[in-house]
Amino acid sequence: MSKKEKNDELEEVKETSTGAQQVPGKGLDVGTANLVCASHDTDGEATIKAIRNAFLDIQVDDYTRNMLTKLNVPFINQNNRFYVIGETAFELANVFNRTTKRPMKDGVISSSEQDALAMEKILVESIVGKPVVPNELVYFSIPADPVDSEMNNVFHKGMFEGMLTNMGYNPKAMTEGHAVILSELGDEEFTGIGISFGGGMVNVCVAFKGVPVIYFSTSRSGDWIDKNAAAVTGLQASRITAIKEKGIDMTNPQGKEQEAIVIYYRNLINYTLAQISNKFASGRDLPQFPKDVTIVCSGGTSMIGGFIDVFKQEFAKLSFPIAVGEIRHAEDPLNAVAYGCLVASMSE
Ligand SMILES: Nc1ncnc2c1ncn2[C@@H]1O[C@H](COP(=O)(O)OP(=O)(O)OP(=O)(O)O)[C@@H](O)[C@H]1O
Ligand SMILES: [Mg+2]
Repeated sequence: MSKKEKNDELEEVKETSTGAQQVPGKGLDVGTANLVCASHDTDGEATIKAIRNAFLDIQVDDYTRNMLTKLNVPFINQNNRFYVIGETAFELANVFNRTTKRPMKDGVISSSEQDALAMEKILVESIVGKPVVPNELVYFSIPADPVDSEMNNVFHKGMFEGMLTNMGYNPKAMTEGHAVILSELGDEEFTGIGISFGGGMVNVCVAFKGVPVIYFSTSRSGDWIDKNAAAVTGLQASRITAIKEKGIDMTNPQGKEQEAIVIYYRNLINYTLAQISNKFASGRDLPQFPKDVTIVCSGGTSMIGGFIDVFKQEFAKLSFPIAVGEIRHAEDPLNAVAYGCLVASMSE
């Protein structure tokens, strides 16, 4: 499988097509911030479709309806309420000075968001589409059990299984870190450490010859950095998100905001590595790794400038329980989980 689509930035429902036929089997990354679907065609080319996991409800009045129609904004009319989804929701939220609603929080479907389920279904349908054969296999990502919070993963998993089954698919769940291993560590016999630094959480998987031996999630990731850097600088979290995503060099932060972001990034990396060490210390029947292992970092939070350099600096400060050789970025960090889920679907 070649990765035709090398996108550094997610765009709404991005698709490339050579005109070749789609082959059955899909991978779906169900993320707090972004939903990503990977599929492949008869040329062996992978296609990525992605959408921001967000929506906005709008007052139904003639003025708004006319304005949306004039601006060519696609909207959904459901139970007499109007909604816009994905990137458009972000754009309109700025216009209306509101914040978008998010169907997921901290890695799972949100229990506090009233319209979460209905909107999530529409968002998923917009990128997954119809199955190319009845009962088409789709692997979708779920967070591993967290080490530092309570999580209703059972409901979340069941909800997506039901949704995809209703859409005509045969859904199977895979932990997010495992998907990173499948996507990135094929040349290393699927042995090593895969980490996905997402919006709501960090997911880790340590695998030996394709078998996950340690897997967990933590609740410190992108949103956590935004919230904490906002608290110490007196800015809104959304402002920190914008500064963070605009392009910072973590090895050379400029000004108080960037410095705060880097401090929390270092803490996040250190915390993640410490949790892996703890798991090794408390784990039983763990395999001996005969060779140095590779650590691969993926996810939107790893997209900041200098991430791998700072990761290596933090790593060097610790005594780690297994010998690590290379520390590298995923080939396509935003889409690695979806690719890994696609690899799982293709290998069945
Ligand atoms: N260039 C960038 N620099 C720093 N952070 C970024 C950049 N681009 C995106 N992010 C951050 O990445 C996070 C989203 O990443 P990602 O799409 O991997 O998450 P997700 O898979 O939707 O979430 P999760 O896995 O936690 O459920 C957000 O916190 C966002 O602010
Ligand atoms: Mg993710």
